[in-house]
Amino acid sequence: MAPGMANLLLQLAGAACCAVVFFRGVSDLRSWRRRRRERAAWRTERATQLAERIAAAYRLASARRGDRLGWSGTRPLRVAAIVDEATDLRSFYLTTPDGSPLPRFEPGQYLTLHLPVVQGEPPVVRCYSLSDRPNSDYYRLTIKHERASPANNRKPGVASSFLHQRVQVGDALECSAPQGAFVLDSLRTGPVVLIGAGVGVTPLVSMALTAAREQPDREVYLVLGFRDRAHHPFKRALEELASTAPKLRMFTCYSKPASGDQQFRDYHHAGRVTAKYLQQILPSLDLSFYLCGPAAMMHSLVPDLLNAGVADDAIHYEAFGPASIRKKPKSVETTQLPCGKVRFAARGIEGEWDGRHDSILELAEELGVPIASGCRAGNCGQCQVKVLNGKVQRTKRAGFHAEGEACLTCISVPNGTVVVEA
Ligand SMILES: Cc1cc2nc3c(=O)[nH]c(=O)nc-3n(C[C@H](O)[C@H](O)[C@H](O)COP(=O)(O)OP(=O)(O)OC[C@H]3O[C@@H](n4cnc5c(N)ncnc54)[C@H](O)[C@@H]3O)c2cc1C
Ligand code: FES
Repeated sequence: MAPGMANLLLQLAGAACCAVVFFRGVSDLRSWRRRRRERAAWRTERATQLAERIAAAYRLASARRGDRLGWSGTRPLRVAAIVDEATDLRSFYLTTPDGSPLPRFEPGQYLTLHLPVVQGEPPVVRCYSLSDRPNSDYYRLTIKHERASPANNRKPGVASSFLHQRVQVGDALECSAPQGAFVLDSLRTGPVVLIGAGVGVTPLVSMALTAAREQPDREVYLVLGFRDRAHHPFKRALEELASTAPKLRMFTCYSKPASGDQQFRDYHHAGRVTAKYLQQILPSLDLSFYLCGPAAMMHSLVPDLLNAGVADDAIHYEAFGPASIRKKPKSVETTQLPCGKVRFAARGIEGEWDGRHDSILELAEELGVPIASGCRAGNCGQCQVKVLNGKVQRTKRAGFHAEGEACLTCISVPNGTVVVEA
């Protein structure tokens, strides 16, 4: 071979080597950059997840303490839509008047409405669970019209009649911020059983919708109880949820199916939600339970679950509605409640505690001592007054954390003689 040719070949080989090294270098640089971008994205995702968990932990803790509310006092929210859901059940969609975003709530919490039922008189205060998943556009409340029942000498419900009969789209309702300690623990990932009956399904529906969106890998058993199809709210929306959420299983019980109601089309089980039925459908009872329903269901189901071996701290419940307000827990009989006197210092009025009343609030009302009230169930804090002397005893677990020396009069009874600032 001619020396010129050899030289050229050598130069070509050198150039080829340089090109290989160059392209290899470029490719290495590219994959190094890609890996760096992937690592950065992974770190950002982890940081976001961690921030979300910290935020969720913070929200849960403050929901349980009831100390950090979306706003203080009341603010007007506009009724943007009213939707009939089932017999006597109507949803009210509330937005801010200027369309600004609403603060987040925790699924299971409720809104407190201050309703101007009678002009010139103090507003009627009632609590209503938020029935949709948290979102910043609207709050949804689903409210049962408590109708009169002459047979039982029952008058129509004051607040629910006002809401169903007088409130219209475009009206403004004065609301306290969402609150309540009955919230789904989203920091846990274990299976959860959500049990609701009647209008008591509202907080559980919010929990189920939220879990399906925010914890799609969490196993959720949603067990609902209604009288029949006519009393079955959110039917289509819940069926759609059950068919799209991979880990959610829904069971519906009708206590009195109507003639046109079909098993396995409208409902699964004819009868009430009982511990026995739960044992048939659940893989085990070693699960977390969230319950809300009529007093009769709560009074039987909670003890039955405890007797069946469910741990006390695995059962979370909320009782609402007048029956649960008026009825005592089975374990607390009037005769076992402590005796004593209650002195209402501001009014200078004293009342004998003789076991006829469920709470200091009821005694105050009978004696004409004004104490504000809302939920009458230890959840809203409306009825708290300071204890100046003596001791009180709670008749149920409070959802609201009373300040310092204050007591929640709706769930407190005197333990001996007690002086309160009211
Ligand atoms: C945390 C919480 C969340 C709640 N969430 C919801 C919810 O999502 N949806 C919902 O619909 N409700 C909910 N409630 C219940 C709600 O707050 C009200 O208690 C309910 O709407 C009834 O209020 P009312 O003013 O209409 O009835 P009230 O006027 O307070 O009367 C209550 C009941 O007593 C009867 N009554 C009235 N007067 C008499 C009388 N003289 N003698 C005998 N009986 C009488 C009425 O018929 C009625 O059934 C919730 C309650 C709480 C505590
Ligand atoms: S009235 Fe709501 S805590 Fe007593």
